[in-house]
Amino acid sequence: MSIVAKRLSRIKPSPTIAVTSKARELKAAGRDVIGLGAGEPDFDTPDHIKAAAKAAIDRGETKYTDVQGTLELRKAICAKFRRENGLSYTPDQVTVGTGGKQVLYNALMASVNPGDEVIIPAPYWVSYPDMVELAEGTPVSVPCPAESGFKLKPADLEKAITPKTKWLILNSPSNPTGAAYTAADLKALAAVLLKHPQVWVMTDDMYEHLVYDGFKFSTIAAVEPKLMDRTLTVNGVSKAYCMTGWRIGYAGGPADLIKAMNVIQSQSTSNPSSVSQAASVAALNGPTDFLARNNEVFKQRRDLVVSMLNQAKGLSCPNPEGAFYVYPSCKGTIGKTAPSGKVIKGDGDFVTELLEAEGVAAVQGEAFGLSPHFRISYATSTEALEEACRRIQRFCASLK
Ligand SMILES: Cc1ncc(COP(=O)(O)O)c(C=O)c1O
Repeated sequence: MSIVAKRLSRIKPSPTIAVTSKARELKAAGRDVIGLGAGEPDFDTPDHIKAAAKAAIDRGETKYTDVQGTLELRKAICAKFRRENGLSYTPDQVTVGTGGKQVLYNALMASVNPGDEVIIPAPYWVSYPDMVELAEGTPVSVPCPAESGFKLKPADLEKAITPKTKWLILNSPSNPTGAAYTAADLKALAAVLLKHPQVWVMTDDMYEHLVYDGFKFSTIAAVEPKLMDRTLTVNGVSKAYCMTGWRIGYAGGPADLIKAMNVIQSQSTSNPSSVSQAASVAALNGPTDFLARNNEVFKQRRDLVVSMLNQAKGLSCPNPEGAFYVYPSCKGTIGKTAPSGKVIKGDGDFVTELLEAEGVAAVQGEAFGLSPHFRISYATSTEALEEACRRIQRFCASLK
């Protein structure tokens, strides 16, 4: 008998991490590979944040902290929610975890009973359905195709809701599409939710600061305050502050839910790293001028990638509002033959053959629940992106 628990049978290891590892492996074997799989900024953590971490170490802040995060950090988070989102949370309505990922996981483990349904608009961040499965819930994926801007339509939300629905997960700007909901979009979804008081909203705002062309970010509890007592607003420092390795994420929500999440944390990781928490206080309270500078670079890269991919035969690439991903369709390549002689039957074949032929690592849309697409992260150097897009154009032109 296997040592592995039955609950693992429905869980896959993260496919985005798998692509990054595969690209690293090929590189180590001497292949010239450009990895476009990773979901992290290539910029370094700003100096004032690093300095705050060093100072915390020197002050001896190297011990366990409160389970839910230090009071100082939770106060900084409350101030951030008020200042940037117009949301009023008190420190007991805030929890800090080891990355947004752990916060989302704690929330689902703390609230989902076996058989509860969780609505996940597709394409979605790869971890949501697996986390729901681990919590013994049922993920309910709702297709949101490119024609709807990859966004959930109110009528489709209405149709997906059943008496068993516990949560709707929203993610804006989105990983993997970069699509973002306007305040009007959110208001229309909120109108549906107001008719169904049993449904809670988990909003993953991780890419809040990564928006372009003057797009105005909104979050649902601010747009519809009547949803405040059933919304969990999740955010973190990983993406905007270039702090993926520091592992700090947080959420604001009703105190009962936050308390239950803290119980799970107290029996699993105790608390997020004390040093990273001190660094995050400096991030949230400190200067933010670097955000505009980074965004200018990201916007230029997005424009470059969208334009070059739209020139590739068989591809079509929408122009996203935010995050650092594009999600082109590869529909026009399906049924064609790659240089290896293999026929491309779907986006899985497309990315495999692309990696094989040209050494460009992207992630298949299948992993995000909407095909035939693939995801490219443009959080990598402009030169590498230009070269990768040239190779993609060459690969597409070579298909017969
Ligand atoms: C949509 C989304 N949510 C949450 C996370 C988790 O971020 P972290 O755990 O680094 O805070 C990510 C990271 O890739 C993400 O893309």
